[in-house]
Amino acid sequence: MKDKEVVILGVCGSPRKSVTTQALDKALNAAASVPGIKTVKIDLAGHNINCCKNCNSCLKNNLDYCPVYKDDFRQEYYEMYKNCHGLILATPMYYMTATGLLQNFLSRMRPLSLLARQGKFGSRMGAGIAVGGMRNGGQDFCLSVLNNMMHAAGTNIIGGGVQFYNGASIWSDNQDKLIDEKGMLETEALGRKLAYMCKIVQNGIELLGEEINDANFLGFTDNDDLKEGYSRRGL
Ligand SMILES: Cc1cc2nc3c(=O)[nH]c(=O)nc-3n(C[C@H](O)[C@H](O)[C@H](O)COP(=O)(O)O)c2cc1C
Repeated sequence: MKDKEVVILGVCGSPRKSVTTQALDKALNAAASVPGIKTVKIDLAGHNINCCKNCNSCLKNNLDYCPVYKDDFRQEYYEMYKNCHGLILATPMYYMTATGLLQNFLSRMRPLSLLARQGKFGSRMGAGIAVGGMRNGGQDFCLSVLNNMMHAAGTNIIGGGVQFYNGASIWSDNQDKLIDEKGMLETEALGRKLAYMCKIVQNGIELLGEEINDANFLGFTDNDDLKEGYSRRGL
C-alpha cells in the first residue's frame, strides 16, 4: 500500500519565541523524521488574538471565519487546522495552566465547530507539550488541560504511555535555551509516536474504504444514523 501524506500541525502558545518553541520544534522534527510525515507550525509569538465572545455571528451566518475581530488571527490558520491529521499543542505554564493566547487561539476555531460536530476531526490524533519555569510548576495539570481542549474539538489524544503518561513535560528553569534532557527525550518521543499513530489511522482509513465515514468517528454507523441521533437529541 502506498503511504498517504500525513500532516502534523504544531501550535506554539508562547507570546515569545523561546523554550516552548524549541521544544515544539524538537517534536516536529522527530515527527518529520518518520517517512510520509509533513509538519507545519503556527507560532503565536507576538500575536494579538482576541478570545471568541460567543456571539455566534460565524455560525448564524454560516461563515467559515470570524467576521467580528480584525486581529492577528489569519484565515490560513483555519485551513491548517482543518487539514491536519495530527495536532501538537505546546504551551508555557502561566499560572499552572496554558497561556490565554493559546486558549484564545483555540476559541477562535468556533467557525469550524459544526465540522467538529459532524465528525470531520474524528480521525485526528493529538498530543501536548507543557513547559514550566519550575520543575513542578503545573506541567502535569496543564497537560490534562491541553488534552481536554483537544478532546472538546473531537481530537483523539495520545500520550507518552507508560513512559511519561499524559504528554511531554519540560522544565525550562526560566532560561531561554532548552536544557532539560529528560524533557527533550519526551518531546521527541511524543513527536515520533504521534507521527506513527497518525500514519496508522490514515492508512487504516484507506484500507477500510467505504466502511468508514465521518459518522463512525462519532460512534454512529453512517451519516443517516448521525442525523437521526442529532435530531433525537434536539440538535
Ligand atoms: C505570567 C507568567 C506566569 C507563569 N506561571 C508559571 C507557573 O505557574 N509555573 C511554572 O512552572 N512557570 C511559570 N512561569 C514561567 C514560564 O512558564 C517559563 O519561564 C517558561 O519557560 C516560559 O516559556 P517560554 O520560554 O517558551 O516563553 C510563568 C511565567 C509568566 C510570565
